[in-house]
Parts: sequence; C-alpha cells; structure tokens
Amino acid sequence: MFDNEIKSRHLTNSDITILAIESSCDETSASVCRDGKILSNHTANQTVHEKYGGVVPELASRAHMQNIVPVVDAALSNANCQLTAIDAFAFTQAPGLIGSLLVGAQFAKSLSLALNKPLIAVHHMQAHVMANLINDPKPEFPSLCLTVSGGHTQIVLANSATDLKVIGETIDDAAGEAFDKSAKILGLPYPGGPLIDKYANSGNPRAFKFAEPQVEGLNFSFSGLKTSILYFLQKEIKQNSQFIEQNMAGICASLQTTIINILLKKLKKASLQTGITEICIAGGVSANSGLRKAFKEMGEKNNWNTFIPDFEYCTDNAAMIAITAYYKYLAGDFSDLSVSPTAKAAWV
Ligand code: KG4
Ligand code: ZN
Repeated sequence: MFDNEIKSRHLTNSDITILAIESSCDETSASVCRDGKILSNHTANQTVHEKYGGVVPELASRAHMQNIVPVVDAALSNANCQLTAIDAFAFTQAPGLIGSLLVGAQFAKSLSLALNKPLIAVHHMQAHVMANLINDPKPEFPSLCLTVSGGHTQIVLANSATDLKVIGETIDDAAGEAFDKSAKILGLPYPGGPLIDKYANSGNPRAFKFAEPQVEGLNFSFSGLKTSILYFLQKEIKQNSQFIEQNMAGICASLQTTIINILLKKLKKASLQTGITEICIAGGVSANSGLRKAFKEMGEKNNWNTFIPDFEYCTDNAAMIAITAYYKYLAGDFSDLSVSPTAKAAWV
C-alpha cells in the first residue's frame, strides 16, 4: 500500500522524518528523528509500580493509555514538527509486556493508516544496541555490544546496522534482575538498580565476597548470585539485626562489583574470540556508574574503542526505536498493518 512512497524514498537518506513509539514495559516514550539525528525524545515514567516491588502489567497498560497522546504530542512539539511531516511511524513490536506493547503498536498503526505512511516494527533489544548509533563518534562494524537490561543480558555481534547476532546470553536471570532482586532483599524499592548504584558509590567494593558463577562460553548466569546474597544476609542478620542498615554501602558496592566482573569477563572473552575491538554497552544497566567506569578502564587496557549511549538512551526510550527504524527505512524494511506485537520474539 505504501509502495510508491517507499520506492521513491528508501534509496536516499535525505530528509527522512520518523516518529517512533516505545511502550514495551513501564515507560511511555516517543521520539522524532530526522536523517538519523534525534530531534526529540520524550518519556513518561510510571511511578504507580513502586509500591508493588515490580511492574504490574495491567497497571502498565492503563498508564500507557493515559500517557500516549500527551507523550507523542510533546515529542512532536519539542521537535518542532507537524504530524503531517512524518514519513514513517515506528513502534516496539517485541519483546515486552503484551498489553503495553499493544498500546504503542495500535497507536503507530492508526497513525500509519490515517496518514498513509509506512510502518516500521522494531525489536526492542536490537534498538538498545542501536542506541550507540545515536551520537558521534559511532562504532565501526563489526562491533560487539554487551546489552544489559531488566529482562535481558546479551553479547551481540553487529556486522552492520541491520545484521545483528546474539553470541552469548543469560541462561537464567538478567543483570538488571540481579540488581533489582538483590535490592528487594535489601529492602529497597523497585527498581533497585539505580539505588544500589547510589549506595555503592560510598562503599568498599571488597567489603564482602559473593561467588561468581562458572558458565560455559559467552553465556551468563545470575540466579545463584541472588541466592548467595539472600543466604549471606540471613546468616548476618541472625547475629546483628541492624546488619543491612549498618553495611548498606559495602553490601551494594560488593554486589555491584561482582555483577560488573561477571559481565566484563565475558565481554573480554568475546573480544578475544572474535578479534573485534569496537565495543559498546547498552540497556538500562549500562546507566550504572560502576559499569561505565570499569568498561572504560577495560577498554583502555585492551586497546578497544569503547562506546556508551548517553544516560537518556540507556534505559527504555523511543530515540533508540527511532534510530533503528531509520536504518530499517534505508534498507526498505517495512511492515504492513497485519503486524502484531509479541511478548517474546526471535532475534531476526
Ligand atoms: O533497559 P531497561 O530500561 O528496561 C528493560 O528493557 O528491561 O532496563 C531496566 C533495568 C532495571 O533492572 C534497572 O534496575 C536497571 O536497568 N538500571 C540500573 C541502573 N539504572 C537502571 N541498574 C544498575 N545501575 C543503574 N544505575
Ligand atoms: Zn529495554
């Protein structure tokens, strides 16, 4: 249905304006991107989940419904852009919470249908990797990306902006889950990752020792870490009921260092195995100050060119969906209106 428009435009990268929507979990976000430059990125965070210790899917869907119109409006006006100037509408197709994904998908599909403009479906985890292509300097291909989020932990080999392959991943919990579940054990509110980061800044990373799992190849495991923290705390609290309060900084710093060591050891292994030295990190956990610092240091030691997205492009955001959609537009990779969101998705 959009054939003529697509044929006449997808071979050139001049003046392509994309509106992208991200709604896979608990952030409603919209972004406008022109010719690969982000003009706006507006995100509404959902605070309703805090008291439940995790994202409540039904509440997330409802909040997306309330947020989507003002968020898209804000993204357009911050970019000084009219809806009629948009050349394609992009949305997060998978993976994520199905009710949340449906809100963004239906909104983008409706705009595409009403304005007769192409539709681009984006894989959320590929978009996290692509957040590294938002600002300069950009990594050259082939590159590796350690993608660490609340639901995923992956090492991705990127041969081009549209040819991405997972070469290692977690066999159980994600790195973000290790942060959040440990934080919950420590009595911290959801999401605990940023709070552990904050406490860790003033703590001794060698105060306590937590076991690192031995997993084959480039895969990860984090479920044992959470159990080891739980048992450690239960034992200490038996002797001193104030143990957590008195040692919060040291526990957080030690825990954070353990997670960072697990992640970076595998990333180094991936670089040695592939010979690739253009290395990125991405995803919510890449906002962690300890990981950013340790990653830079490892890069300097190993002569890597290292890349980290700006903070606002690490956690869930629509700018990463927009930049991915831009490269899909150039490759002529469009979807029709029959495309449906899915909670889980193969990596294609
Ligand atoms: O990428 P993201 O925003 O959403 C998913 O796709 O899952 O990642 C969210 C995860 C949460 O687990 C959150 O605790 C973690 O990223 N996170 C952090 C930090 N900021 C966000 N973890 C550690 N330190 C941080 N500063
Ligand atoms: Zn994410």
